[in-house]
Amino acid sequence: MTEAAKPSVIVEDLAPHVALVRIDRPEARNALNAETRAALVEAFQRLGADPDVRVVVLTGTGKAFVAGADIKDMASRTPPDMMARRTHLQWQVIAQFPKPLIAAVNGFALGGGCELAMHADIIIAAESARFGQPEIKIGIMPGAGGTQRLIRAVGKFKAMKLMLTGAVIDAHEADRIGLVTEVVPDAELMERAKALAVEIAGLPPVALAEIKDVALTGEDLPLAAALALERKAFQLLFSTEDQKEGMGAFLDKRSPDFKGR
Ligand code: CAA
Repeated sequence: MTEAAKPSVIVEDLAPHVALVRIDRPEARNALNAETRAALVEAFQRLGADPDVRVVVLTGTGKAFVAGADIKDMASRTPPDMMARRTHLQWQVIAQFPKPLIAAVNGFALGGGCELAMHADIIIAAESARFGQPEIKIGIMPGAGGTQRLIRAVGKFKAMKLMLTGAVIDAHEADRIGLVTEVVPDAELMERAKALAVEIAGLPPVALAEIKDVALTGEDLPLAAALALERKAFQLLFSTEDQKEGMGAFLDKRSPDFKGR
């Protein structure tokens, strides 16, 4: 298979109702070039629309999760070239992915890779994972949401140090500052991500989608508007069969079987 024909994003079933998206360009440390970005977008659009998929795990092949945007592909670009790429529309698809997304960060998550991980709802980091926004070292700045998502995740003073120095931090430091959910030994990364995904996939999908939507949308709204959004979503869930099933199962002292409606 030639390099051009080899897909750089692989989608497979990880468990019932759980899909795995693996960025598979290890020779370039999974750097995001145009083909990889397009393949990622296509995968997220497809998985978002597939009613059988309830949770997605995102990881990378080899030493890197994603080493950032592809520098070779950007080095000689002009501002009009960069504008014409309209990559913000591609990132939007991942940001608005309606189902729980778990990043299983297996190695370097730098630049656009750290930004990609921050698009997830939960980040499980292998002990050898490394995080950073090193764009400053190559004359640019984070351009896929990093300035905003990092500051919201870890606060101004940790975020500014990372962005202004380009420092790369290890998984334990990322955990300390709140950039990841948990750190696990390298060999246990996929097992842990899968276990968490399976646990979440057993929970009612409509309520999961509402939690994600309200939490993320509400983050940027005034508190009263965010609370109103929460209230309406909470009330709406009483129209679902899964609410009847969840509460009925509790009262009957049996395990619920959620259907996603
Ligand atoms: N773009 C293009 N190619 C990359 C790449 C990137 N971001 N990262 C790694 N590669 C390539 C290397 O050029 C090298 O290719 P060749 O074999 O053809 O020379 C190959 O991957 C292996 O790389 P290394 O030999 O450097 O591997 P390493 O294991 O020693 O180091 C690394 C790994 C620490 C990730 C290092 O490659 C590195 O620092 N990469 C760049 C990280 C970076 O600056 N990312 C930010 C990009 S800008 C951005 O992301 C903008 C944005 O906000 C969207």
